[in-house]
Order: sequence, then structure tokens, then C-alpha cells
Amino acid sequence: MTTHSELQQCIDDMVDERRGILAADESAPTIAKRFATIGVESTEELRRQYRSALLSTPDLGDYISGVILFEETLSQCDNRGMSFSELAWQHKIVPGIKVDKGLGPLPGAPGDKITFGLDGLPERLLTYKKQGARFAKWREVYPISHHNPSRQGLVANAEMLARYAAECQAAGVVPIVEPEVLMDGDHHIDCCASVTEAVLKSVFQALDLHKVTLEHMLLKPNMVLPGKSCSDQSSTEEIAEKTLSVLRRCIPAAVPSINFLSGGMGPEEATLNLNTLNQAGDKAPWQLSISYGRALQQPALQAWQGRVENCQAAQRALLKRAKLNSLARLGQYHSGLE
Ligand code: 13P
Repeated sequence: MTTHSELQQCIDDMVDERRGILAADESAPTIAKRFATIGVESTEELRRQYRSALLSTPDLGDYISGVILFEETLSQCDNRGMSFSELAWQHKIVPGIKVDKGLGPLPGAPGDKITFGLDGLPERLLTYKKQGARFAKWREVYPISHHNPSRQGLVANAEMLARYAAECQAAGVVPIVEPEVLMDGDHHIDCCASVTEAVLKSVFQALDLHKVTLEHMLLKPNMVLPGKSCSDQSSTEEIAEKTLSVLRRCIPAAVPSINFLSGGMGPEEATLNLNTLNQAGDKAPWQLSISYGRALQQPALQAWQGRVENCQAAQRALLKRAKLNSLARLGQYHSGLE
């Protein structure tokens, strides 16, 4: 297969009108934090058991078209000895991999962050491909404060995302481009809107400079939301309207799908906002879908509690969220279904 047809095949396998992406790619420190909320120690075996339970969920492929894995998970197997990437394919779910190596401070721009991991990326992509991954994910993070993100932060982060995406496409791997404007803080929704607009404009400028094919990438942005501790919280209608308005200004129609991160929204809130977005965005040129981590997994994690005997309960909880988000893609969700 040529690189072009490999990329197109992956887009065709992942993008449709009902399904979304499950982000299960928590790094070792992040999954340890999640496990700590249920009092479970994060050992390699427990991480394997938890992710094995998630990926073995019967009928998950009816609602989920792709799963993002962490490097460790890509080389692990389920209880029967089947690799997680084979297990995903069995459910018609495309396996992908988080390829960034985490965050640090951006020198010269106090408060801004930058993500590491470009060194050796082409070689790593080849290895991940041999292990079954067909798409990748890279996240840049933008905190909001009165001096963040700076101009330097915008340019540097966009450059990283674009160089990563170009490396992926050269290797025949579809890049998920994730610029995340954080919810932390007391800023107003309009502040998030203007920061998100500046971020997305800088990202698409850099993608263009690095000749990234827009048809062969997915965008994973934040929704436009007020800061978590803002006293003026917004209605779901205002969130949908402001999110769509920013997306329309910044995202070319050639991008096939926008898969939102949940970023700290609760599971029901994230489903409701996706539903309102799809109801308001029926003429949007892109699919409006999900790549939720916490908003899909939180109830499953609570049900699991680190115990083998709770695996089916965890799977039921995951399937319920996946199904409700699938209904939200069609604008057919309402809270009564909870
Ligand atoms: P959340 O949906 O929990 O924000 O996670 C998505 C993700 O992949 C963060 O990189």
C-alpha cells in the first residue's frame, strides 16, 4: 500500500457518523493518579488487567472506532495471550498510540508548557506500526492566565504539533493533533474562546507550513468552556454556540473529524455538550465526535475497583457511556437516558 492509501484507509476505518475514539493512553504517572482515586496501586499487572477489561467489552466496536493506547499497553496481551492491538481489531476498533513524551516548562515563557518526544520519532513510529498501531496522538497544553499563552508559547507549541504530524504522515500513520486549552482557572468563557481561536489559528498555520495533509489527520481540541472556578458558568447552548463559532473560524473543511477531549468535564456534562453541539452543528463540514478519556472511563474505573470480579460491571459502565455518546453524535441524547 502507498502511504497515501494507508492514511486514507485508516481515516475510512475510524471516521463515521456514530462512533468515537476511546482515549486509554494515560501515561504511568497519570494512570497512577486515576487508580489512586479508587485506592488501587498502579502495578504493571493491574494496568494490564484494567485495560484488558476495557478492550474486551462486548459490542464496544458498535460505538468506538479507535482506541489510543500507551506504549506499555501496545506490547501487552489480554488474559488469553492475544495482543491488545489484535483484540482491538477483533472489535473493529483501530489501535493507536500516544507518541509524545510528556510536558515540561517552555524556557523564556513563564507559565507556558512544551511537549517532548520528536527525537527518534520516525524510528518509534515504525516499531509501533509493526506492533499494530495505525494512528498516533500528541498533546500540547495551553494554560490560561493573564500572561499565558504567550506569543512564544503559541508558536512553539504549534511547531511541535505540526512537525509531529508531518513525521506521522511520512510513516503512513494518521496523526491526531491535540492542542488542549486547559479548564483550570477562573477565566470567563469568552477568554477561553479567544485563546482557543489563537491556538487553532497558529496550529493550522504550522500544519500548512509543514505540508500536513488535512484530509489525513484528526483534530482533538477542547470545547470552549469557562474556567472551572469561574463564577459565571455557561449553559450547554452557550458552550455549543461559542465552540462552533471558534471552530468555523479556524478549521478548514478538509479535516474529516473533530474529536473533542473531555478535559475535566464530568461524564454526563461531556455527553450533553456533545449532543448540543451536534444539534447546533448539523451543517458543520466535519464530524463532531469524541476522543474522551476521563468522561468515558470514570464510571468504569469506579465500578472496577481493582477487582477481577468487577470486570463485567466496569464493561457495562463503559458501554453505557460509549452508547450515550454515540446517541449524542446524532443529537438524540437526553438526560432521561442516564
Ligand atoms: P480527557 O478526555 O480525560 O481529557 O483525556 C483525553 C486525552 O487523551 C488527554 O490527552
